[in-house]
Amino acid sequence: MARSDLLVSLVRAAVAGDQGRIRATAEALAADERAKNHHLLADRLQQALSAVALSSAPAGAAATPAHGKEAILESTPRIRLDELFLTLPVREAARQLVEEHARADVLRAHGLEPRHRVLLSGPPGNGKTSFAEAVAEALALPMFVVRYDVLVGSYLGETNSRLRRLFDYVRTTPCVLFFDEFDALGKERGDIHETGEIKRVVSFLLMQIDQLPSWTIVVAATNHAELLDRAVWRRFQLRLAFPAPGPAEIADFLGKVMASWPERPRAAPAAIARRLGAVSYAEARDFCLDVRRRVVLGLGEVGIDAALEAELRTWEARVRPESGDGGGTRVSTPARRARKRETEGKGETSRGPGT
Ligand SMILES: Nc1ncnc2c1ncn2[C@@H]1O[C@H](COP(=O)(O)OP(=O)(O)OP(=O)(O)O)[C@@H](O)[C@H]1O
Ligand SMILES: [Mg+2]
Repeated sequence: MARSDLLVSLVRAAVAGDQGRIRATAEALAADERAKNHHLLADRLQQALSAVALSSAPAGAAATPAHGKEAILESTPRIRLDELFLTLPVREAARQLVEEHARADVLRAHGLEPRHRVLLSGPPGNGKTSFAEAVAEALALPMFVVRYDVLVGSYLGETNSRLRRLFDYVRTTPCVLFFDEFDALGKERGDIHETGEIKRVVSFLLMQIDQLPSWTIVVAATNHAELLDRAVWRRFQLRLAFPAPGPAEIADFLGKVMASWPERPRAAPAAIARRLGAVSYAEARDFCLDVRRRVVLGLGEVGIDAALEAELRTWEARVRPESGDGGGTRVSTPARRARKRETEGKGETSRGPGT
């Protein structure tokens, strides 16, 4: 039996002709039924909702949900929240987010929904992707990374129909849906010249995000939060900053990594951090791996201190990113995105039809 308060609220919303309220209440009903394991009813409610979706799906164009997977790269989350170096507010937000989802039934029993739209911003290499993955790990959800190369088609309307299929699919599947480089969306491909088309795609995307049920957690990441307009910004219930770490944070990070080495260097982490200068966590991790490689390949001939010193010298002479700030405010270029896809796609970089 559906919850009486929700039914009453639904009737009230219908009488008042309040479309937004009807949608929210019906979604809460669906979520409530799903929590009770009444998946059939929950699916039917969802379907009924998508039939009156604000999106104008042409009649008979009901997409097969399976097709929605084409623009998704699914990964099994491995990294854990407690492995990440996070600022206090981000750590607290993560704790709340996980709790709201783990105990969603309690919230729903009081007519509330867990928050599920999260925006992460900050320079490259400081844990945005890792955070999304760790949230998925904590909630035992799959992580779906949206692939723009597949999503963005060259024909008018193609991108929207792929987006619709993608959302029809994720709507029925509890997951963490990850949009990387969110600011680049709609600008990624040169083929879409027409600004009108880009605008249509972006507003359609935002509408789809608005309509997602709360068991789908949308995490969007950007290096350039300042490029997002307010309409985008306000969609997200949680907006978390991932700033570049300072020397003290890098020293902590190095200390933790080095504690797991069979042999510890004599130099203090703080001294190493000073010599590394402004680096991201990802760069600090790469540095540590370089030192380990040197020691391992030295086959006992190269001690940890010699390896560390050699790597620090190499590091000091390294080619720096264009901006020279290490922690990076590098502008996201198509070439950089392509490189990232290669490393993050873990080899699965097969190109879709739109490419
Ligand atoms: N806060 C952090 N704590 C611990 N390790 C981190 C942190 N940030 C980054 N790393 C390390 O660096 C790697 C890359 O980080 P990640 O991909 O999460 O960065 P990002 O912020 O998503 O960068 P980009 O903007 O380039 O996508 C991680 O796999 C992890 O090993
Ligand atoms: Mg990332």
